[in-house]
Amino acid sequence: MSTARTTVGYPGCRIIGSGVATPGRTLTNHDLEQMMDTSDEWIVQRTGIRSRQIARKDGTENTMTLSVDAGRRAIADAGIDPSEIDLVMLATMTPEYTCPPTACRVAMEIGAGKGRDEGANHDRYAGAWDFSGACCGFVFALNNAYALIRAGMARTLLLIGADTLSKYVHYNTAGRSTAILFGDAAGAIVLRGEQDPSVGVLAQAMLSDGSRWQELYLPFEEHNFPNDVEPQRELLNTVQMNGRGVFKFAVGTFPEIIAQTLDAAGLSADEVDHFVCHQSNARILTAARDRFGLDEHKLHINIDRYGNTVAASIPLVLQDLRSEGKVREGQRIMFVGFGGGLTWGTSLWQV
Ligand code: UT7
Repeated sequence: MSTARTTVGYPGCRIIGSGVATPGRTLTNHDLEQMMDTSDEWIVQRTGIRSRQIARKDGTENTMTLSVDAGRRAIADAGIDPSEIDLVMLATMTPEYTCPPTACRVAMEIGAGKGRDEGANHDRYAGAWDFSGACCGFVFALNNAYALIRAGMARTLLLIGADTLSKYVHYNTAGRSTAILFGDAAGAIVLRGEQDPSVGVLAQAMLSDGSRWQELYLPFEEHNFPNDVEPQRELLNTVQMNGRGVFKFAVGTFPEIIAQTLDAAGLSADEVDHFVCHQSNARILTAARDRFGLDEHKLHINIDRYGNTVAASIPLVLQDLRSEGKVREGQRIMFVGFGGGLTWGTSLWQV
């Protein structure tokens, strides 16, 4: 395939591979008890989290390395050659740089799109860029990826959700409500344009309310603090979250956006096989399960092992389902995200 392409669209799109990567260090609730005033009981009861994986701080594990590992696994799972990838999209709020896009280095490491177009006598490359959507990044990027494939701007696309928020968290009592919550990880999928129009997105939503940005933000400079907050140098480069505010927002918005997406597709919750949701707090997820009367196996929770991994959490759930053989052709999957921005969104797939 040549680097430049005409835009002949694909009527359908499939998820043909997936893979994940987590850093080596396990941080349990009991480890956290040694670092701050908290308890395993409090964390499990309030969040459902028991442990999370944390990247080493020596530069050997970061958003880029985890993305490369997850991306390679997804490509191997898809059974394709990296040279077949047209585009690499990396959803992250913790890139290695603001320039270059981390995705470009990931694409290079993986060999995405790399090759020689002998007929046209030029080298081939994959396009690559980062996508900043915080905890909603993966869902928003997924809808964007689908649209690019439908439009024919790519056929095979590697989509990665990766975050290493631990570098922006203080593991002390002052930072305890965020420190216990977040883990580091990457999850990737390979999407491919198909001629079968029955596969792909059935309905989707992408929404934001910037008036509530200060519920969850990461200040790098003193003027990044909200007007009513006294800037504090020691809070720079540290995630600031109004946990209770985000919790209330999520408990309300999450079922609402699911209901709206089902309506748009003309489906009932029973007709969706899997709800693959951002893992921010087990209580938010069980509340949504109760609201729709869903069985445990329909709305999967794995936050106990990983914590809240931001843009990686949704592909981590998908990977669990795929590796357990629970995702089958003909099923419907709804991906649901919410988080900083504030943002919330869905992507309902026929797979
Ligand atoms: O990924 C998308 C964005 N993020 C979210 O969706 C997160 C949503 N929010 C949450 O998950 C929860 O709000 C948290 C887990 C962050 C906090 O749980 P909470 O039940 O909302 O606790 P809280 O912040 O209202 O604090 C209740 C109490 C406070 O003590 P006092 O003031 O009542 O004496 C806190 O100081 O719990 C205390 N607390 C803790 N105690 C032990 C806060 N963090 C901890 C802790 N260990 N780690």
